[in-house]
Amino acid sequence: MNAHRPVLVFGATGHTGRFIIDELLRRGLEPVLAGRSAERLAAVAAEHPALERRVIALDDPDLLREGLAGVGVVINCAGPFLDTALPLARAAVEAGAHYLDVTAEQPAVQAVYRELDAPARAAGVAVVPAMAFYGGLADLLVTSALDGDSGADEVEVAIGLDRWWPTAGTRVTGDRNTATRLVIRDGALAPLADPPATASWSYPAPLGDQPVVELPFSEVITIYRHLDVGELRSFLNTASLEDLRSSATPPPSAADEHGRSAQQFVVDVRVRRGADTRRISAAGQDIYAVSAPIIVEGAVRLLDGRHSGSGAVAPGEAFDAADVLATLQRDVEGFTVRRDRSSTSVGRGA
Ligand SMILES: NC(=O)c1ccc[n+]([C@@H]2O[C@H](COP(=O)([O-])OP(=O)(O)OC[C@H]3O[C@@H](n4cnc5c(N)ncnc54)[C@H](OP(=O)(O)O)[C@@H]3O)[C@@H](O)[C@H]2O)c1
Repeated sequence: MNAHRPVLVFGATGHTGRFIIDELLRRGLEPVLAGRSAERLAAVAAEHPALERRVIALDDPDLLREGLAGVGVVINCAGPFLDTALPLARAAVEAGAHYLDVTAEQPAVQAVYRELDAPARAAGVAVVPAMAFYGGLADLLVTSALDGDSGADEVEVAIGLDRWWPTAGTRVTGDRNTATRLVIRDGALAPLADPPATASWSYPAPLGDQPVVELPFSEVITIYRHLDVGELRSFLNTASLEDLRSSATPPPSAADEHGRSAQQFVVDVRVRRGADTRRISAAGQDIYAVSAPIIVEGAVRLLDGRHSGSGAVAPGEAFDAADVLATLQRDVEGFTVRRDRSSTSVGRGA
């Protein structure tokens, strides 16, 4: 077991990276600050003078592997992940380190699964993309709702935000990610309808009834990886999508002592197996900030051995989903998980 090996954070200069460093320190782990720019890393290091820092370029595989020497887990929070995920995850596997990232981009997850499953198994390490708000949280919720069952006839994931203050990284990543988005239809990955469906969704409090649009993220790829699902559709409330699309929307700003913005979120999941409908939802504050305890919980479990085997895997496949959610509910202020096995109060419109 390598419980005491450091955790390298690539993208330490970013908004999400800073939350992740703080969370690693809170959990008693040893972060190594990493990124492409010595100058920008120096600014972060000024806040954490005791921490090691490494400037790492992704375009030289030998140097990249050397840059990961001695590390137990690599956390990648430098997006667009279409540019960073595969080279960094490959180098992590070659260096004998586990790999986690926060990608919401479907093709980045597909590439990592396709290219690195066999090498990761051979190296005895786990590669877990999308361990974050978008992607991982829905994957963990669906896995937990299934409670050991291997699949479902129908899954619906509805993400609701009271507003979306996007970071610069989110905007760049959205512009870069032009691939046709995928859903699961008849048990297989299939393109999202064009135009995407619109509907209405009854979110739990505090959001209530909202117009939504079908907009799948990386959870489709992770869920498809390990669960047998007939239909999977993902929705986002249109008000938050309008925030994202407006160039006038500001980036997030700190509103509490943890540096979190005031943004509220709900991830509402409905899973149907035959006549049995289960609903599970997670609510909390700040989608960027909450990604830190999600991914750091993954790092803790990779280091202490509480993960299932090796290979390129989904969050709910690598970790005990219900236990991860219970830990987040216990540790993250304002994060709650609600389950309802009988509810059918969800209503989609036209
Ligand atoms: N799935 C989720 O729920 C979730 C949650 C949070 C974030 N994210 C994603 O994570 C990414 C970062 O978000 P953020 O909010 O932290 O953005 P941010 O504050 O703008 O930071 C972006 C970070 O990525 C680094 N970076 C960007 N392109 C790079 C490249 N080609 N090579 C090396 N480093 C690169 C930047 O390094 P420099 O300082 O050197 O420019 C910086 O550290 C975005 O793609 C965002 O969508 C996803």
